[in-house]
Amino acid sequence: MSENNKTGQIVLGIETSCDETSVGVVSDGVVLSNIIASQQVHSAYGGVVPEMASREHERLLAYILDTALESAGVALGQVDGIAVTAGPGLMGSLLVGVSFAKGLALRNHLPVLPVNHIEAHLLANFIDNPALQYPFLCLLVSGGHTQIIRVEDYGGYEILGTTVDDAAGEAFDKVARLLDLGYPGGPYIDTHAREGRADAFDFPRGMLDSGDLNFSFSGLKTAVLYAVKPLDAGERQAQMPDLCASFQQAVVETLETKLRMAVRETGIRQVTIAGGVAANSQLRQRMQQMGDEADVEIFYPEFEYCTDNGAMIAFAGWMALERQQIPGSYFTARPRLSISSP
Ligand code: KG4
Ligand code: ZN
Repeated sequence: MSENNKTGQIVLGIETSCDETSVGVVSDGVVLSNIIASQQVHSAYGGVVPEMASREHERLLAYILDTALESAGVALGQVDGIAVTAGPGLMGSLLVGVSFAKGLALRNHLPVLPVNHIEAHLLANFIDNPALQYPFLCLLVSGGHTQIIRVEDYGGYEILGTTVDDAAGEAFDKVARLLDLGYPGGPYIDTHAREGRADAFDFPRGMLDSGDLNFSFSGLKTAVLYAVKPLDAGERQAQMPDLCASFQQAVVETLETKLRMAVRETGIRQVTIAGGVAANSQLRQRMQQMGDEADVEIFYPEFEYCTDNGAMIAFAGWMALERQQIPGSYFTARPRLSISSP
């Protein structure tokens, strides 16, 4: 079934699970606006400082809401539902968004729609790809998750494989920190890697022979640490492109190998990529190549819908509203919510 139903409902989506404060507006499954404020306060720390993230969400949210409505050309009175990330994420950050959304919904007599952040990343594939059909496989790669999910239908998710330690995005961020690049590390490594040789360093590919669809990236991160340690500042700078290219290649090859296994095991020939790491240029390139070689159709969201954004929350909320899935406002923020939890 295609998800491109049109019934005219307008949904506002609020995303505050980590360090992006974002609000998006979706009408009929079409994104009207997607305003994202990437918090800058964390860059000096090489990672997200939870309390600072909560404070920034609280400071920015009303302004981002006004900007998103204005940019969409929509008045609050025209909105049919308020979607908000209920989890997973940082507890303090989630609480700011959930409380704000509940207050806004209460004040305007609107339903509030709790959205699972991981499900929203996955469903973002439908935003620009109305041709996508169930069932499909989703490689979900973000700062907190690395999973291969079998998507049988709307709400029918089975996790086929997951990381046993670090998430792929976390590995990008930790390696970027080792190399004194900024935060988040993925885009910096992606850029440096374009100038480097991917075979310059022989970094390990974790769990390739494990026989299952699980991942491990902590050994890779440690291998990069040992490669960087003996280098002085000048050498490290000179070898930066090679280090980034070799590290990135190890991550991408691992993801690709497991995904090929999943395709073989399930026989499913539609594959989507979701989450922040889906913005990686080499991963996209390799996926496309895998698609051509293995006769698999590959889908990924536009760049702006890969990393955390309000539009994907609005879109997931719109899908719930279309199906009359309105659980009421007694839900709470759940930092450890899984895509397969009820
Ligand atoms: O989905 P996301 O925005 O937030 C979470 O839900 O975690 O993903 C953030 C992750 C970060 O670890 C960031 O370094 C990574 O996505 N990322 C990338 C790229 N852009 C963002 N990783 C590799 N290459 C990129 N171009
Ligand atoms: Zn995310």
